[in-house]
Amino acid sequence: MMDQSAIHRFAVALAKEAGLMLMDSLTQNIAAEYKTSAADLVTEMDRKIECFFAEKVNTEFPEHMILGEEGTVTDQRSYIPEEETVWLIDPIDGTTNFVHQKRNFAISVGVYHKGSPIAGVIFDPAEGECFHALSGEGAWLNETKLERLSPTSEEEALIAMNSLWLVPNEYADFEKMQSLVSKVRGVRCQGSAALELAHVACGRLDGSIAFGLGPWDFGAGLVLLKEVGAVVTTSGNDSIYPFDHSSVIAAKPGLHEILAASYLR
Ligand code: IPD
Ligand code: CA
Ligand code: CA
Ligand code: CA
Repeated sequence: MMDQSAIHRFAVALAKEAGLMLMDSLTQNIAAEYKTSAADLVTEMDRKIECFFAEKVNTEFPEHMILGEEGTVTDQRSYIPEEETVWLIDPIDGTTNFVHQKRNFAISVGVYHKGSPIAGVIFDPAEGECFHALSGEGAWLNETKLERLSPTSEEEALIAMNSLWLVPNEYADFEKMQSLVSKVRGVRCQGSAALELAHVACGRLDGSIAFGLGPWDFGAGLVLLKEVGAVVTTSGNDSIYPFDHSSVIAAKPGLHEILAASYLR
């Protein structure tokens, strides 16, 4: 029998240790390299933190698989993710914020067993905020248990969006999105998908609409959101497959139904 709570504790401890390493690194000059373009940065710390996780997980749980943004992957041809325990790791979510702002970034770690969520950790080291969840037991911000989310209306909603909806894309109708922006109370673009999901889970945001995310961006967030009763789907209103790229629409009950019915394809 798998000790899910040991995995949860281990993931929290690793995220906190990694957070200290990131905060220490901010006292030095951080060289950013282009990954695919000037808008897609990677630093030495992204790779260093991902290696740190890979080494620790491989030592503690050698049978577990790893899927990390910076290429630390267990060869996916050699296993079926739905049949294994998989760690979805984003060593720095919000690398652009890390480089430009030295804040508003997070470490995101989601653990799934045979396709079901086990544990999720989103650690914001600049704020000292650790959002974490153990499936079936609840979600916490540091030591404080998060409450289940109550329904909200569109008019009272503060939602996060990434900027992809501003350019033609396959997921959203531009006019519908304009109408949404004019109806809700406010819109935020935080630059860290994982933190946006954590902020929906703790009620700072009422919803989040993001397109083109990787499993490492939302793997932890889905675990947290499930524990607080958020509704989470793709933009097509389907359930999210955690091991591939996806759009992620996460919102309080009531609001999600409006988003899905009126604004998304
Ligand atoms: C990015 C951030 C950003 C989201 C992008 C992600 P990264 O992750 O989460 O908010 O809009 O889609 O790729 O590259 O900083 O880890
Ligand atoms: Ca990246
Ligand atoms: Ca990311
Ligand atoms: Ca990243």
